[in-house]
Amino acid sequence: MKLVFATHNKNKLQEVQALFPKDITLLSLDDIGCFEEIPETADTIDGNAILKANFVKEHYHMDCFADDTGLEVKALNGEPGVHSARYAGTHKDNEANIDKLLANLENRENREARFKTVIALNLEGHELLFTGVCEGTILKERKGEHGFGYDAVFQPNNSEKSFGEMEMEEKSKHSHRGKALRNLIEYLAK
Ligand code: IMP
Repeated sequence: MKLVFATHNKNKLQEVQALFPKDITLLSLDDIGCFEEIPETADTIDGNAILKANFVKEHYHMDCFADDTGLEVKALNGEPGVHSARYAGTHKDNEANIDKLLANLENRENREARFKTVIALNLEGHELLFTGVCEGTILKERKGEHGFGYDAVFQPNNSEKSFGEMEMEEKSKHSHRGKALRNLIEYLAK
């Protein structure tokens, strides 16, 4: 079986490939020659995952799935949420996003946060959603060199390490994307 994973992000592709059964060939957007910007104009995480999956289905006529993730910080009323990639501006700068988050949480007692991933699957005419959530806290400073996005300042509950200090496999055991993916894989195996 061939499935398109609607991403250009090499980090994400590696995380997903490591969990996927070997009899499913994953194709990235680069592999199918999709280099145009897919609109992510919905105002919810679910909505953007659906937009991306439907775009691939409509334009490339292939079974596919797309994910969308948001970091929801309690003391910031769920922000950056659906705006996580562009929190500090349209340039999608991970370091600037972290700086803005730390500045907005300065002197805040409550540093609870959660990552939420939604995967939208388009398979043989069916559309399905799979969700994964990872609860944790926002650290006061960066820890670790691994990963991407907000990994260096997010520490999942029941862990002494930030995502930035974890190898990919360890992160996937805890992570929002790992959980959503395991739900997707369980469904595909049926
Ligand atoms: P996307 O919808 O997966 O592109 O995620 C939106 C933004 O959330 C990304 O640009 C990152 O800043 C952040 N993000 C998504 N997944 C992760 C993760 O696993 N760790 C840290 N940050 C993430």
